[in-house]
Amino acid sequence: MADYETITVETDAQGNAGVTLITLNRPKALNALNSQVLNDLIEAFAAYQADETQLCAVLTGSGEKAFAAGADIKEMSEKAAADFYLQDFFAPWTSEIVKKTRKPWIAAVNGFALGGGCELAMMADFIIASENAKFGQPEINLGVAPGMGGSQRLTKAIGKSKAMEMCLTGRMMGAEEAERSNLVVRVVPHDELLGDALKTAATIASKPPMAAIANKEMVNAAFETSLDQGLIVERRIFQILAASEDKKEGMAAFVEKREGKWKGR
Ligand code: CAA
Repeated sequence: MADYETITVETDAQGNAGVTLITLNRPKALNALNSQVLNDLIEAFAAYQADETQLCAVLTGSGEKAFAAGADIKEMSEKAAADFYLQDFFAPWTSEIVKKTRKPWIAAVNGFALGGGCELAMMADFIIASENAKFGQPEINLGVAPGMGGSQRLTKAIGKSKAMEMCLTGRMMGAEEAERSNLVVRVVPHDELLGDALKTAATIASKPPMAAIANKEMVNAAFETSLDQGLIVERRIFQILAASEDKKEGMAAFVEKREGKWKGR
Protein backbone atom coordinates (compact mmCIF):
# COMPACT_ATOMS: atom_id res chain seq x y z
CA MET A 1 0.00 0.00 0.00
CA ALA A 2 1.22 3.50 -0.85
CA ASP A 3 2.74 5.61 1.92
CA TYR A 4 1.33 9.10 2.21
CA GLU A 5 2.70 12.09 4.07
CA THR A 6 -0.54 13.72 5.18
CA ILE A 7 -3.23 11.03 5.05
CA THR A 8 -3.63 7.36 5.91
CA VAL A 9 -5.46 4.87 3.73
CA GLU A 10 -6.87 1.47 4.75
CA THR A 11 -8.51 -0.84 2.25
CA ASP A 12 -11.14 -3.33 3.48
CA ALA A 13 -11.14 -1.02 6.48
CA GLN A 14 -11.65 -2.59 9.90
CA GLY A 15 -12.81 -5.82 8.29
CA ASN A 16 -15.39 -4.17 6.01
CA ALA A 17 -14.85 -5.82 2.62
CA GLY A 18 -14.77 -3.33 -0.25
CA VAL A 19 -14.56 -0.24 2.00
CA THR A 20 -11.61 2.15 1.79
CA LEU A 21 -11.02 4.48 4.73
CA ILE A 22 -9.07 7.67 3.99
CA THR A 23 -8.09 9.74 7.03
CA LEU A 24 -6.75 13.30 6.91
CA ASN A 25 -3.75 13.16 9.22
CA ARG A 26 -2.37 16.56 10.21
CA PRO A 27 -4.07 16.75 13.62
CA LYS A 28 -1.69 19.44 14.96
CA ALA A 29 -2.82 21.77 12.17
CA LEU A 30 -6.44 20.62 12.61
CA ASN A 31 -6.04 18.73 9.30
CA ALA A 32 -5.67 21.98 7.32
CA LEU A 33 -5.60 21.30 3.61
CA ASN A 34 -2.25 22.25 2.08
CA SER A 35 -0.88 21.30 -1.36
CA GLN A 36 0.58 18.05 -0.04
CA VAL A 37 -2.82 16.99 1.31
CA LEU A 38 -4.33 17.75 -2.09
CA ASN A 39 -1.66 15.69 -3.89
CA ASP A 40 -2.06 12.81 -1.44
CA LEU A 41 -5.85 12.85 -1.78
CA ILE A 42 -5.67 12.93 -5.58
CA GLU A 43 -3.43 9.83 -5.49
CA ALA A 44 -5.55 8.03 -2.88
CA PHE A 45 -8.85 8.69 -4.66
CA ALA A 46 -7.32 7.58 -7.99
CA ALA A 47 -6.13 4.35 -6.33
CA TYR A 48 -9.58 3.81 -4.83
CA GLN A 49 -11.24 4.42 -8.20
CA ALA A 50 -8.85 1.98 -9.94
CA ASP A 51 -9.11 -0.86 -7.39
CA GLU A 52 -11.94 -3.15 -8.49
CA THR A 53 -12.16 -4.73 -5.03
CA GLN A 54 -12.99 -1.39 -3.34
CA LEU A 55 -16.58 -0.20 -3.79
CA CYS A 56 -17.22 2.62 -1.31
CA ALA A 57 -14.87 5.04 0.50
CA VAL A 58 -15.11 7.01 3.73
CA LEU A 59 -13.16 10.22 4.30
CA THR A 60 -12.66 11.43 7.88
CA GLY A 61 -10.27 13.50 10.00
CA SER A 62 -7.77 12.27 12.60
CA GLY A 63 -7.70 13.68 16.11
CA GLU A 64 -10.55 14.66 18.38
CA LYS A 65 -11.17 18.17 17.11
CA ALA A 66 -11.34 18.48 13.34
CA PHE A 67 -12.40 16.98 10.06
CA ALA A 68 -10.47 19.86 8.44
CA ALA A 69 -10.24 23.49 9.62
CA GLY A 70 -9.88 24.80 6.08
CA ALA A 71 -7.37 25.43 3.37
CA ASP A 72 -3.94 26.00 4.95
CA ILE A 73 -3.90 29.69 5.84
CA LYS A 74 -0.13 29.69 6.43
CA GLU A 75 0.49 28.37 2.91
CA MET A 76 -2.01 30.78 1.34
CA SER A 77 -0.60 33.78 3.19
CA GLU A 78 2.63 33.44 1.16
CA LYS A 79 0.89 33.49 -2.19
CA ALA A 80 0.21 36.46 -4.45
CA ALA A 81 -2.99 36.89 -6.47
CA ALA A 82 -1.04 35.98 -9.62
CA ASP A 83 -0.03 32.63 -8.06
CA PHE A 84 -3.66 31.76 -7.31
CA TYR A 85 -4.75 32.82 -10.78
CA LEU A 86 -1.93 31.30 -12.83
CA GLN A 87 -1.99 27.99 -10.94
CA ASP A 88 -5.82 28.00 -11.02
CA PHE A 89 -5.45 27.22 -7.31
CA PHE A 90 -8.24 25.00 -5.89
CA ALA A 91 -9.32 23.76 -9.37
CA PRO A 92 -7.93 20.19 -8.90
CA TRP A 93 -10.20 19.54 -5.90
CA THR A 94 -13.13 19.33 -8.30
CA SER A 95 -11.41 18.30 -11.54
CA GLU A 96 -9.12 15.60 -10.06
CA ILE A 97 -11.12 14.32 -7.10
CA VAL A 98 -14.86 14.99 -7.54
CA LYS A 99 -15.04 14.44 -11.30
CA LYS A 100 -12.71 11.43 -11.46
CA THR A 101 -14.15 9.52 -8.50
CA ARG A 102 -17.14 7.84 -10.07
CA LYS A 103 -17.53 5.37 -7.22
CA PRO A 104 -19.40 6.46 -4.08
CA TRP A 105 -17.71 8.08 -1.08
CA ILE A 106 -18.96 9.42 2.23
CA ALA A 107 -17.59 12.21 4.43
CA ALA A 108 -17.63 11.32 8.15
CA VAL A 109 -17.30 14.73 9.80
CA ASN A 110 -15.88 14.38 13.31
CA GLY A 111 -15.35 18.03 14.33
CA PHE A 112 -14.56 21.36 12.66
CA ALA A 113 -15.35 21.40 8.94
CA LEU A 114 -14.54 25.01 8.11
CA GLY A 115 -13.78 26.80 4.87
CA GLY A 116 -12.09 24.23 2.60
CA GLY A 117 -12.95 21.56 5.20
CA CYS A 118 -16.67 22.23 4.80
CA GLU A 119 -16.17 22.42 1.05
CA LEU A 120 -14.32 19.07 0.99
CA ALA A 121 -17.10 17.41 3.03
CA MET A 122 -19.66 18.76 0.56
CA MET A 123 -17.70 17.19 -2.34
CA ALA A 124 -18.61 13.76 -0.90
CA ASP A 125 -21.77 12.01 -2.04
CA PHE A 126 -23.21 12.61 1.43
CA ILE A 127 -22.13 13.59 4.91
CA ILE A 128 -22.61 11.78 8.21
CA ALA A 129 -21.79 14.02 11.18
CA SER A 130 -20.77 13.41 14.78
CA GLU A 131 -22.56 15.49 17.39
CA ASN A 132 -19.29 17.49 17.67
CA ALA A 133 -19.31 18.54 14.00
CA LYS A 134 -19.22 22.26 13.23
CA PHE A 135 -19.63 23.56 9.70
CA GLY A 136 -18.78 27.04 8.43
CA GLN A 137 -17.45 29.23 5.67
CA PRO A 138 -15.46 31.76 7.72
CA GLU A 139 -13.29 32.99 4.81
CA ILE A 140 -14.81 36.48 5.10
CA ASN A 141 -12.90 36.89 8.36
CA LEU A 142 -9.65 36.51 6.36
CA GLY A 143 -10.64 39.11 3.79
CA VAL A 144 -11.50 36.47 1.19
CA ALA A 145 -14.41 34.15 0.31
CA PRO A 146 -14.91 30.42 -0.35
CA GLY A 147 -12.65 29.07 -3.12
CA MET A 148 -13.30 25.31 -3.23
CA GLY A 149 -17.02 25.44 -4.01
CA GLY A 150 -18.58 26.63 -0.73
CA SER A 151 -20.63 29.47 -2.17
CA GLN A 152 -22.10 27.05 -4.75
CA ARG A 153 -22.41 23.67 -3.02
CA LEU A 154 -23.54 25.13 0.32
CA THR A 155 -26.21 27.22 -1.42
CA LYS A 156 -27.48 24.21 -3.36
CA ALA A 157 -27.49 22.11 -0.17
CA ILE A 158 -29.14 24.45 2.34
CA GLY A 159 -30.67 27.24 0.22
CA LYS A 160 -29.82 30.88 -0.37
CA SER A 161 -30.83 32.49 2.94
CA LYS A 162 -28.87 30.22 5.21
CA ALA A 163 -25.87 29.97 2.87
CA MET A 164 -25.77 33.74 2.50
CA GLU A 165 -25.94 34.24 6.25
CA MET A 166 -23.21 31.65 6.85
CA CYS A 167 -20.87 33.24 4.30
CA LEU A 168 -21.55 36.84 5.38
CA THR A 169 -21.26 36.27 9.12
CA GLY A 170 -18.71 33.44 9.05
CA ARG A 171 -20.63 31.74 11.88
CA MET A 172 -20.41 28.03 12.56
CA MET A 173 -23.40 25.72 12.22
CA GLY A 174 -23.68 22.87 14.72
CA ALA A 175 -24.51 19.28 13.83
CA GLU A 176 -28.19 19.45 14.81
CA GLU A 177 -28.79 22.52 12.64
CA ALA A 178 -26.81 20.91 9.80
CA GLU A 179 -29.14 17.91 9.86
CA ARG A 180 -32.22 20.14 10.00
CA SER A 181 -30.84 22.13 7.03
CA ASN A 182 -30.23 18.99 4.91
CA LEU A 183 -26.46 19.49 4.90
CA VAL A 184 -25.93 16.09 6.53
CA VAL A 185 -27.76 12.78 6.36
CA ARG A 186 -27.73 12.20 10.11
CA VAL A 187 -25.97 13.03 13.36
CA VAL A 188 -24.57 10.22 15.49
CA PRO A 189 -22.80 10.14 18.87
CA HIS A 190 -19.14 11.04 18.42
CA ASP A 191 -17.84 7.56 19.35
CA GLU A 192 -20.17 5.91 16.87
CA LEU A 193 -19.33 8.09 13.86
CA LEU A 194 -16.69 5.94 12.21
CA GLY A 195 -18.57 2.70 12.87
CA ASP A 196 -21.75 4.17 11.41
CA ALA A 197 -19.96 5.54 8.31
CA LEU A 198 -18.09 2.26 7.70
CA LYS A 199 -21.29 0.23 8.12
CA THR A 200 -23.12 2.50 5.67
CA ALA A 201 -20.21 2.20 3.23
CA ALA A 202 -20.26 -1.61 3.64
CA THR A 203 -23.96 -1.63 2.74
CA ILE A 204 -23.20 0.35 -0.42
CA ALA A 205 -20.22 -1.93 -1.18
CA SER A 206 -22.54 -4.96 -1.05
CA LYS A 207 -24.71 -3.61 -3.89
CA PRO A 208 -24.16 -4.28 -7.62
CA PRO A 209 -21.15 -2.01 -8.28
CA MET A 210 -22.14 -0.72 -11.72
CA ALA A 211 -25.62 0.12 -10.45
CA ALA A 212 -24.02 2.05 -7.56
CA ILE A 213 -22.03 4.21 -9.96
CA ALA A 214 -25.12 4.69 -12.11
CA ASN A 215 -27.29 5.74 -9.16
CA LYS A 216 -24.62 8.29 -8.16
CA GLU A 217 -24.44 9.66 -11.69
CA MET A 218 -28.23 10.06 -11.84
CA VAL A 219 -28.56 11.88 -8.52
CA ASN A 220 -25.68 14.18 -9.51
CA ALA A 221 -27.51 14.94 -12.77
CA ALA A 222 -30.41 16.28 -10.68
CA PHE A 223 -27.93 18.51 -8.88
CA GLU A 224 -26.15 19.74 -12.00
CA THR A 225 -28.70 19.92 -14.84
CA SER A 226 -32.30 20.91 -15.59
CA LEU A 227 -35.21 18.52 -14.89
CA ASP A 228 -35.63 17.68 -18.59
CA GLN A 229 -31.94 16.89 -19.07
CA GLY A 230 -31.83 14.97 -15.79
CA LEU A 231 -34.79 12.81 -16.78
CA ILE A 232 -33.06 11.91 -20.04
CA VAL A 233 -29.85 11.03 -18.17
CA GLU A 234 -31.91 8.84 -15.82
CA ARG A 235 -33.72 6.96 -18.60
CA ARG A 236 -30.58 6.39 -20.67
CA ILE A 237 -28.60 5.08 -17.71
CA PHE A 238 -31.53 2.86 -16.70
CA GLN A 239 -31.60 1.46 -20.24
CA ILE A 240 -27.85 0.74 -20.11
CA LEU A 241 -28.22 -1.02 -16.74
CA ALA A 242 -31.04 -3.13 -18.21
CA ALA A 243 -28.41 -4.74 -20.47
CA SER A 244 -26.06 -5.61 -17.59
CA GLU A 245 -25.36 -9.10 -16.24
CA ASP A 246 -26.13 -7.79 -12.75
CA LYS A 247 -29.65 -6.81 -13.83
CA LYS A 248 -30.26 -10.37 -15.04
CA GLU A 249 -28.80 -11.77 -11.83
CA GLY A 250 -30.61 -9.26 -9.56
CA MET A 251 -34.01 -10.02 -11.00
CA ALA A 252 -33.38 -13.79 -11.10
CA ALA A 253 -32.23 -13.68 -7.47
CA PHE A 254 -35.45 -11.88 -6.48
CA VAL A 255 -37.63 -14.42 -8.25
CA GLU A 256 -35.63 -17.36 -6.82
CA LYS A 257 -35.69 -15.79 -3.32
CA ARG A 258 -31.90 -15.73 -2.87
CA GLU A 259 -29.10 -13.16 -2.55
CA GLY A 260 -27.64 -11.81 -5.81
CA LYS A 261 -24.02 -12.52 -6.76
CA TRP A 262 -22.66 -9.42 -8.48
CA LYS A 263 -20.25 -9.29 -11.38
CA GLY A 264 -20.02 -5.50 -11.54
CA ARG A 265 -20.95 -5.41 -15.22
N1 CAA B 1 -4.69 26.65 8.19
C1 CAA B 1 -3.51 26.47 8.81
N2 CAA B 1 -3.39 26.17 10.12
C2 CAA B 1 -4.53 26.06 10.83
C3 CAA B 1 -5.79 26.23 10.26
C4 CAA B 1 -5.86 26.54 8.87
N3 CAA B 1 -7.01 26.69 8.22
N4 CAA B 1 -6.72 26.08 11.22
C5 CAA B 1 -6.07 25.80 12.37
N5 CAA B 1 -4.73 25.78 12.14
C6 CAA B 1 -3.66 25.53 13.10
C7 CAA B 1 -3.46 26.73 14.02
O1 CAA B 1 -2.65 27.71 13.39
C8 CAA B 1 -2.78 26.06 15.20
O2 CAA B 1 -1.42 25.82 14.86
P1 CAA B 1 -0.23 26.27 15.90
O3 CAA B 1 -0.47 25.35 17.07
O4 CAA B 1 1.00 25.95 15.13
O5 CAA B 1 -0.46 27.70 16.20
C9 CAA B 1 -3.45 24.69 15.28
O6 CAA B 1 -4.03 24.49 13.98
C10 CAA B 1 -4.58 24.64 16.29
O7 CAA B 1 -5.48 25.69 16.02
P2 CAA B 1 -5.99 26.73 17.15
O8 CAA B 1 -4.95 26.91 18.20
O9 CAA B 1 -6.49 27.93 16.45
O10 CAA B 1 -7.20 25.87 17.76
P3 CAA B 1 -8.50 26.45 18.49
O11 CAA B 1 -9.16 25.24 19.09
O12 CAA B 1 -8.17 27.58 19.39
O13 CAA B 1 -9.43 27.01 17.31
C11 CAA B 1 -10.49 26.97 15.13
C12 CAA B 1 -9.98 26.16 16.35
C13 CAA B 1 -11.70 27.79 15.58
C14 CAA B 1 -10.92 25.95 14.09
C15 CAA B 1 -9.37 27.89 14.61
O14 CAA B 1 -8.19 27.12 14.44
C16 CAA B 1 -9.69 28.57 13.31
O15 CAA B 1 -10.46 29.52 13.28
N6 CAA B 1 -9.06 28.08 12.20
C17 CAA B 1 -9.18 28.71 10.89
C18 CAA B 1 -10.53 28.42 10.28
C19 CAA B 1 -10.64 29.11 8.95
O16 CAA B 1 -10.60 30.31 8.84
N7 CAA B 1 -10.80 28.32 7.88
C20 CAA B 1 -10.92 28.84 6.52
C21 CAA B 1 -9.58 28.87 5.87
S1 CAA B 1 -9.62 29.70 4.31
C22 CAA B 1 -10.20 28.58 3.19
O17 CAA B 1 -10.50 27.45 3.53
C23 CAA B 1 -10.32 29.05 1.77
C24 CAA B 1 -11.18 28.21 0.89
O18 CAA B 1 -12.34 28.43 0.71
C25 CAA B 1 -10.64 27.09 0.17
